[in-house]
Amino acid sequence: MRTLVKNIKEIVQVEATPALRVMGKDMARLNTVKDAYLVVEDGRFSAFGPMAELAEQRFDKEIDAGGGMVFPSFCDSHTHLVYAGSREIEYCDKIRGLSYEEIAKRGGGILNSAKRVQEATEQQLYDDAMGRLKQMIAFGSGAVEIKSGYGMTVEAEMKMLRVIRRLRETSPLTIKSTLLGAHGVPMEYRGRQGDFVDLVVREMIPQAAAEGLADFIDVFCDQGFFTVEETDRMLEAGAKYGMRSKIHANELAYSGGIQCAVRHNALSCDHLEYTGDAEIEALLGSETMPTVLPGAAFFLGMVHAPVRKMMDAGLGVAMASDCNPGSSPSTNMQLILSMACINYRMLPEEAINAVTINSAYAMGVSRELGSVAVGKRANFYITKPIPSYEYMPYAYGENKVARTFLGGVEV
Ligand code: NIG
Ligand code: FE
Repeated sequence: MRTLVKNIKEIVQVEATPALRVMGKDMARLNTVKDAYLVVEDGRFSAFGPMAELAEQRFDKEIDAGGGMVFPSFCDSHTHLVYAGSREIEYCDKIRGLSYEEIAKRGGGILNSAKRVQEATEQQLYDDAMGRLKQMIAFGSGAVEIKSGYGMTVEAEMKMLRVIRRLRETSPLTIKSTLLGAHGVPMEYRGRQGDFVDLVVREMIPQAAAEGLADFIDVFCDQGFFTVEETDRMLEAGAKYGMRSKIHANELAYSGGIQCAVRHNALSCDHLEYTGDAEIEALLGSETMPTVLPGAAFFLGMVHAPVRKMMDAGLGVAMASDCNPGSSPSTNMQLILSMACINYRMLPEEAINAVTINSAYAMGVSRELGSVAVGKRANFYITKPIPSYEYMPYAYGENKVARTFLGGVEV
């Protein structure tokens, strides 16, 4: 099956020789083809170029982009998309002045969501998450990493992971799954946190591995949550079962989480509000993708990760939605793109790299996704008529996506 997409105003983020990630000054580079055509064959990009160079030939199907632009779908490399209920009451508590940590200490926050997930059926969790996945697709996402972490018991964590597996089997999105057994300490383990870490190491990790439920392992390694030593133990245990690490680090303090991620050759370390010279030094030369979550920083009113400084030092940066009920209840990666530019002073080119190729790297799919390149899976969207690619982050809040294609099929 060969499909031609014609009359494209501009194809954005094309690669002749695909790179797995972009770093430093290269983040400001973005290749495009103007007045273009694109060919998709059996679900993959097979050719693209200027319309003027399109040779006469037969296609099984033709799609007229109507002067819209084509972008590779966003890769959303950090989400907690499976959850039950919502937390708008805590949102009001935050507005009144309570901090994220204070809410967590009194059993709100992650524990609040855990209670609801424990009570929910697998079907309810699946239906709610599928609804959110559909929103994501409509906003232009084509791949998503989803974490457990609201289970807190072995049983509920496995329930979450099974929901993620079912989503993967039934949704056209590319989905990666992460075991986040250590997201918070359940009330009954307060004062004996080590026992909970034992539970993660001895039961959650082996069980998730036995059922083949997790690609990655994550830990909330931060002040007031899990220590570096505890994180070391859990990441090592995960690695034994082939789970690469991707951790929450340095959101609340200079907690040593970034250095810990690098030591474990983590695929990514995420949040990073507290990143100083030592953290940047540790990341340089590593395979770990620093991933910033602008939605959470915005929603919690936090300091912003020093993204400019990180890029100037030569690092790559990825960005993701962190979609979750507590710190970033949004599935919209276009908003993340806008926040990247305004709150982190990224140029549109840098921001687009952060939410496509680099976030693809951060979830281990950049050989397959994250750019328009011959041979890659044809996950892309056609925009409404827009004047330039800079308009994507500029016109924040409106949905600029007109049509979406995953594996070459319109969804
Ligand atoms: O990535 N920081 C830790 N975990 C989530 C928030 C989870 C929640 O509050 O429910 C995050 O922001
Ligand atoms: Fe998170």
